[in-house]
Amino acid sequence: MSLISEIKCRFEDVLSHYHDDVAKLLDMLKPSQDEKFGDYQLNCAMALGKQLRRPPREVATEILEKVNLEGICEKMEVAGPGFINLTLDQRFVVAEVKKAIADNRLGVQAASEPKTVVIDFSSPNVAKPMHVGHIRSTVIGDSLCRVLRFLGHQVITDNHLGDWGTQFGMIIYGYKHFSNSEDYQTNPVPELSRIYRYVRRLMDYFEKQGQRPKLQNEHKALTLKLEELNSAEAKDAKEEKKQAKSIRSLRNKIAATESMTVALEEYFSLVQDDADFQLDVKEHQNIATAVLEETARLHEGDSENTSLWQQFMPHCREEIQRIYSRLNIEFDHEFGESHYHSMLQGIVDEFKENHLAEESEGALCVFLDGFEAPMIIQKRDGAFLYSTTDLATIRFRMKTWDPDLVLYVVDHRQSDHFEKLFSAAKKWGYTEPRFFQVSFGTVMGEDGKPYKTRSGDTVGLEGLLDHAVEEAHRLVQGVNQKRKPEDQLSKDECFDVANVVGLGGLKYADLSQHRGSDYVFSYEKMLALKGDTAPYVQYSYARVHGIFRKGKFDPNQRTEELVSNLNLEAIAERALAIKLLRFEEALQEVLIEYKPNILTNYLFELSQQFAVFFEQCPVLKADTEQQKQSRFLLCDLTARTIEKGLSLLGIEVRKKM
Ligand code: ARG
Repeated sequence: MSLISEIKCRFEDVLSHYHDDVAKLLDMLKPSQDEKFGDYQLNCAMALGKQLRRPPREVATEILEKVNLEGICEKMEVAGPGFINLTLDQRFVVAEVKKAIADNRLGVQAASEPKTVVIDFSSPNVAKPMHVGHIRSTVIGDSLCRVLRFLGHQVITDNHLGDWGTQFGMIIYGYKHFSNSEDYQTNPVPELSRIYRYVRRLMDYFEKQGQRPKLQNEHKALTLKLEELNSAEAKDAKEEKKQAKSIRSLRNKIAATESMTVALEEYFSLVQDDADFQLDVKEHQNIATAVLEETARLHEGDSENTSLWQQFMPHCREEIQRIYSRLNIEFDHEFGESHYHSMLQGIVDEFKENHLAEESEGALCVFLDGFEAPMIIQKRDGAFLYSTTDLATIRFRMKTWDPDLVLYVVDHRQSDHFEKLFSAAKKWGYTEPRFFQVSFGTVMGEDGKPYKTRSGDTVGLEGLLDHAVEEAHRLVQGVNQKRKPEDQLSKDECFDVANVVGLGGLKYADLSQHRGSDYVFSYEKMLALKGDTAPYVQYSYARVHGIFRKGKFDPNQRTEELVSNLNLEAIAERALAIKLLRFEEALQEVLIEYKPNILTNYLFELSQQFAVFFEQCPVLKADTEQQKQSRFLLCDLTARTIEKGLSLLGIEVRKKM
């Protein structure tokens, strides 16, 4: 049961007499920041007072006179300028906690109107190794799926693999020119990655070569401008100030182009000595065009390239599957871009026939209200685009699953694409399902720039997982060595815990960020035992089980009689109990804007509240046996809530760590 919805229900009727938009008023009901002000606070009387031209305190008093909170609240007060402070009824709290203890769902109700939701997440471009940029979509999408399912919704997960793009032109080209057939036979996955990276390297070389003259020209132009400005005479003080500012900014720009030039030259001098690479550079001057041609040939159904693609795909899938298995992530479907290829011409024709798209400069464009540039669905040369595939995907998903909602968990840099896509879908007639981009920011390095390896390459996801687990292993061993021999974990247990803590820490660090912001990647922070981290929350769980081991309490032997004796008299007991009852509230709040950080934050606060309880309310040394048993129950509900909450984030727990 959600406490907040229960209270809102009681206020709904009364508030509807004051304002048409009751939901807006009810939204002003919030958990109190300070227990002095009770458990919940309703702040709508101020706004209503203004609107009705009446003193807010008077409005608040009137609302309280009319509302019936019997059985839920035992104290209702008007405070300050017109806050309504509510204190939950102790008997109600006890009764609800008892229900939660006895319930496998921990008192969390399933949605009364379940929705069908498609989640498009992870969706990497295969044929190249997954990198740090894929972590966010993968873990955010997975946790939203888990939360939605737990709340009773029907979720269909679909990994919209990029299995049809230029990267295949790259490996086809690479395979034809650079593959080592022995390596490919014995171990195809690493060989394909090597080929991909090698082609990428050659293409980068030529791109960088193209940057050289551009940078030189830019530098020249900026220097000229600076000279001009330096010799110009200012009319007055104001202009002089302005000039000085421009000079400063020009100097900064010049410095930036200079440091880019230095980096570029460094790069060239490094690759200069690589004789084999230089030979390939000479022989593959046209690699960029050739790669596009290989891609085009694949798309046209060329038999050689099609059969290569069919040969490569299982290996590419195997490569990403390894990572998904480690992260315990599953998809219901993996309809990649290639799945839609045969539908694209039909979609384009339909747009044309229904005058939804027009030709402009040879390309077929969908013009959309509110957007400067149109959405192109077919290029002049007949090629289809990312957006064409996404339109086909919408049609397919609608026909196959008829969802109420489609979530796209994709990087914020694609926001423009999705805004246009959703608007085009509307124009096409898909007004009903709600399309929503769950966008997110970038993973940054400690230098404040997008996270890269020291040599400037993207960071491979697999190496990242390995490193997180290794670091966790070091920490686990460190802690373990300080324990008494009889309490120590075995070698295998240490590895197992390191895996759970390392991967959990990594996921949690990502999920605990507001998804819209960039965040700085740090192994040290994500594995810290104190603070808003997975290890801290996981440790609270293990701590409960430590208490159970010492006190020989078996939560599976919980009897009705035991539960009926639950008692929450101590302040810290009551506070922990109310926090536990807010689990459903937190889950529902996650789904308002699809923000898993609401759940991590809840679990962090729950763990903190548990620490306070543990400090103030001795469990093993409780005054009476009954009190001890009652506290065991509260510990147990805490552990189960943590376990469930973390599992909804895709994070595991261990009883000993
Ligand atoms: N493969 C794309 C990329 O790596 C993401 C696909 C997201 N989903 C979609 N339906 N467009 O950028």
